[in-house]
Amino acid sequence: MPDASLRPSGAETTTTDRTAELSATGLRVEFPTRSGRVARALDGADLTVRAGEVVALVGESGSGKTTLARSLVGLTRPVAGEIRWEGRPMDRSTRGLKALRRHVQLVLQDPLGALNPRHTVYESVAEGLRIHKLVARSGRTETELVAAALSSAGLRPPESLFLRYPHELSGGQRQRVLIAGALAVQPQLLIADEPVSSLDASIRGEILALLLKLRDELGLGVLVVTHDLGLAWNIADRIAVMYLGRVVEAGPTEEVLTDPQHPYTQALLSVVPEMDRLEPIVLRGEIPDPTRIPSGCRFHPRCPALASGEADPVADACRGTSLPVLSGDPNGHRCACHLVDWRLSTDPEEVSS
Ligand SMILES: Nc1ncnc2c1ncn2[C@@H]1O[C@H](COP(=O)(O)OP(=O)(O)OP(=O)(O)O)[C@@H](O)[C@H]1O
Ligand code: SF4
Ligand SMILES: [Mg+2]
Repeated sequence: MPDASLRPSGAETTTTDRTAELSATGLRVEFPTRSGRVARALDGADLTVRAGEVVALVGESGSGKTTLARSLVGLTRPVAGEIRWEGRPMDRSTRGLKALRRHVQLVLQDPLGALNPRHTVYESVAEGLRIHKLVARSGRTETELVAAALSSAGLRPPESLFLRYPHELSGGQRQRVLIAGALAVQPQLLIADEPVSSLDASIRGEILALLLKLRDELGLGVLVVTHDLGLAWNIADRIAVMYLGRVVEAGPTEEVLTDPQHPYTQALLSVVPEMDRLEPIVLRGEIPDPTRIPSGCRFHPRCPALASGEADPVADACRGTSLPVLSGDPNGHRCACHLVDWRLSTDPEEVSS
């Protein structure tokens, strides 16, 4: 299934510090709701993203992907947990966050909403350069830097777009302008929230190829937020599967998607159109409201393994014993599931790690 045509070839020209690392540990984000209950949008989320790799954060709508992405750049404040950039805790002062966003850029979910309708393409892309005062120290003019960023995002000739407004662009062009605006400040990490969900299939491929090219040529680290496992398979080096505010399975993409361990990952994968050799597993009901996180394993009310009797040896634990937060350690293939733990303890050969 991986689409080799998306992977660009050519020599690497590294411009990014490949040791750069952004990590979240035990992140909890709560939102008050009108009913007076608290929505636990993140309930112990761990994740690490490093320069030079593409990590896909996948999960159904409402699993907490955007909340985690926003938290990673300091737009949402967690009630507990820690975010570290290059080993140091996030500095939440205005100055600290500005410095972080010089290196970690977020491309928002909705390109039309994210671009100011009254700003031309030129102004949108130049904004970051001006905020971070990057023109003076670059030795180039602002126009040259804006043009270079648009070219890097595949918008050529860049000058032809300078004076256009968002409503005069196609969906794919708008997405590229957002990416260009992020690239203009020469970040080390790019967090892209659903970068292609609103685009046609042909444009999707182009944007995904662009993200891979940026990884290979600039050493950029990319966190791609998506609900599409097929997309993750095509571009990600690693994958983290989220369910109801937590990562439930994580590891190298190839391992997670050829040998998924968590019943949730197995179900998501079974309905990817390209996985036609798998029997589709249709999950019961919707993802629960985060004001009412189920006891025990948070996935238990919808778990096909529990419903079918496959998880009978651990059924009490599934319903009553909560699972530890899955570590964000970027190495290895890990999964938070009583059944997987039980199988490992009874037959360590059965489950790969
Ligand atoms: N500002 C907010 N106030 C109240 N609840 C919120 C807020 N933001 C997010 N939530 C809730 O937190 C949960 C996670 O939302 P989030 O947007 O992070 O999910 P997502 O995985 O990005 O979903 P999607 O795929 O639909 O974009 C949802 O139940 C959502 O309703
Ligand atoms: S812990 Fe139990 S309920 Fe949860 S995913 Fe594993 S088998 Fe299913
Ligand atoms: Mg979202």
